[in-house]
Amino acid sequence: TEIELDISSLLPVPTSDVEQVERNWDGVRLYLYQGVWCPIFVFKALQSFQKNFKANDTDIVLASLPKSGTTWLKALLYSIVNRDRFPIDQTPLLTNNPHKLISSFECHYFFNQDNPDDLGNIAQPRLFSTHLPHQVLASSLIKSKCKIVYVSRNPLDQFISEREFLLKNRFLPDFEALSVEQSFDMFCRGVHAFGPFWDHILGYWRASMENPDRVLFLKYEDMKRDPVSNVDKIADFLGLPFSDDEKKQGLIQEISKYCSFEHLKNLEINKTGVHHKYVNNSTFFRKGEIGDWKNHLSSDMAERMKQVMDAKLSASGISF
Ligand code: A3P
Repeated sequence: TEIELDISSLLPVPTSDVEQVERNWDGVRLYLYQGVWCPIFVFKALQSFQKNFKANDTDIVLASLPKSGTTWLKALLYSIVNRDRFPIDQTPLLTNNPHKLISSFECHYFFNQDNPDDLGNIAQPRLFSTHLPHQVLASSLIKSKCKIVYVSRNPLDQFISEREFLLKNRFLPDFEALSVEQSFDMFCRGVHAFGPFWDHILGYWRASMENPDRVLFLKYEDMKRDPVSNVDKIADFLGLPFSDDEKKQGLIQEISKYCSFEHLKNLEINKTGVHHKYVNNSTFFRKGEIGDWKNHLSSDMAERMKQVMDAKLSASGISF
């Protein structure tokens, strides 16, 4: 069923816990709460998630910044985990956008404010997603043995992808969207949905270093260059390795191909379906390329980002 989003519920809620308020590039309010820039609906969901979520050790959570490859990874995780339930030609991905099959903590706790414990009828192992940074995850999740798959992306491409997405999906159509320069300036200061991006990336990176059995850190770019080895790696990480027979049958290649940008984008459900009132499924599939930022940003802007990344990320050894 289509989610009905009531825009009045996105209006500001004054609260003393908020450290700062800004308007995002598209006018939606961002609240700095526990060090994260939360869009208003996330702010409403976060406290409920932290308080109410009870993790199972078998849960699998996909974490990412928006526009880092979430849709792709949802399709892949769903296919890997459910490969014994559905042959690839009968996969529910044929008739459902990946976001319908794996829902996010943010959406669940926003839409179920009156009944947060009812997570619906989710098959085991439960699959969830989140754009929240590691440092604000519910303590039950942190204490559990559940697995977290994190997908990161070159921040320049992520920025452009996010901007294009926000321009297409306007929650506040009367707000004059900020220019690319203004938005980029905010992004470089960490002011964007779920930002700052460096805290997001570093939080999951450190967790993956400390607990490599629990947190897998992936890069969009590596996945694009070699989806097959990455699908194999994800299945191993989840404790669901492909058998020799499955490998001989070419199942890893089949799943990778089914979930490829070209294939998913051209499925009828993703061409014409709606995610909710404000977002069409097609807007989750734009170009799916590495380096599209070069068509949008000047070399000065790229240089500024390089400096931000050097300052924030280079000590960790992460580069894009
Ligand atoms: P672009 O806007 O650069 O094209 P998210 O799923 O986190 O919202 O990220 C969306 C980005 O991932 C978009 O990037 C989109 O085109 C790209 N994308 C969606 N499905 C993909 C797939 N199957 N393979 C590769 N990229 C994909």
